[in-house]
Amino acid sequence: MLPTIQWTDAGVVMIDQTRLPKETIFITCKTYQEVAEAIRTMIIRGAPAIGVAAAMGVALGMQSATAATFRTHLDTVCETLAKTRPTAVNLFWAIDRMKKLALSLEAEGLAAVQAKLVDEALRVYEDDIAINKAIGSHGAPLVPDGRVVLTHCNAGALATAGYGTALGVIRAAVEAGKKIAVFADETRPFLQGARLTAWELQQDGIETTLITDNMAGHFLKAGKIGCVVVGADRIARNGDVANKIGTYSVAVLAKENNVPFYVAAPISTLDLTLASGDLIPIEERAAKEVTEVFGVPVAPEGIGVANPAFDVTPNRYVTGIITEKGVARAPYEVSLPALAAIE
Ligand code: MRU
Repeated sequence: MLPTIQWTDAGVVMIDQTRLPKETIFITCKTYQEVAEAIRTMIIRGAPAIGVAAAMGVALGMQSATAATFRTHLDTVCETLAKTRPTAVNLFWAIDRMKKLALSLEAEGLAAVQAKLVDEALRVYEDDIAINKAIGSHGAPLVPDGRVVLTHCNAGALATAGYGTALGVIRAAVEAGKKIAVFADETRPFLQGARLTAWELQQDGIETTLITDNMAGHFLKAGKIGCVVVGADRIARNGDVANKIGTYSVAVLAKENNVPFYVAAPISTLDLTLASGDLIPIEERAAKEVTEVFGVPVAPEGIGVANPAFDVTPNRYVTGIITEKGVARAPYEVSLPALAAIE
């Protein structure tokens, strides 16, 4: 797999996910504002990848701080990055981690802080890959051998520093020798399933069938799907899960048809400060994502549009939440804080 994001001497390099699979183009962000813009415009997307980008954005932004402007500059960098996208909590988790570190090191002098912020951003990146491999090893035993796994959106290498969360579980099951195939929802309006998940799995040689979102219920009812595995953008303390719009419909249809519905996510996607998913902010994106496909209008001009980028799946539809520390099951108010507390 090509690297999703990299720290280089020239800046933060990212694969432009808006251009895949047609073109493989890398962009170099030379400033923190460019990193923020890349997150906002979804050149980089997926909760853990956004977290890594934010960590690198803070490290990059602080390279232009001076001793006199240290605190105001840190605030400006962090605020700019935090304003990009509201739902994935990994963004705020990473900014908070970097900010706390910067403040704790202030007395060591600017050069030391700058160097240690780069080290920390690289740690966030490397940890993410290790975390995804651990999610994969906890999740692989749950995937039924010889069956089809349904996934929604892209929770793969492109949505993380590498390997993926939901696709990490699928990769780990394949690596363990299971004979599985994948059904990938196309995931309108941004087409992460068609453009990114299908591309990733094809590169890995994993048998994949692309379906439009409205076909998922048909295949669940027909007994075609052995389990569903999706990622998450934010998980509340009670186990309600915010993920890409359309996830909720899949979860309800999975339960109706007695198909297990798993969520694969790192502990950094938990927001234990929120009692329920009702409190998760849902991003509303531009109408054009709905009225146009690749710049071609597919709807009458002037039509009203709604475009929530995420929905919340209530915990009663979630069979298990696969994290790097193990699998949480209901009651999530008990299991999630217990997992998070493991050192
Ligand atoms: O709008 P996106 O593409 O950033 O949304 C991504 C998703 O919803 C993913 O499923 C989620 O972030 C998990 S990625 C490992």
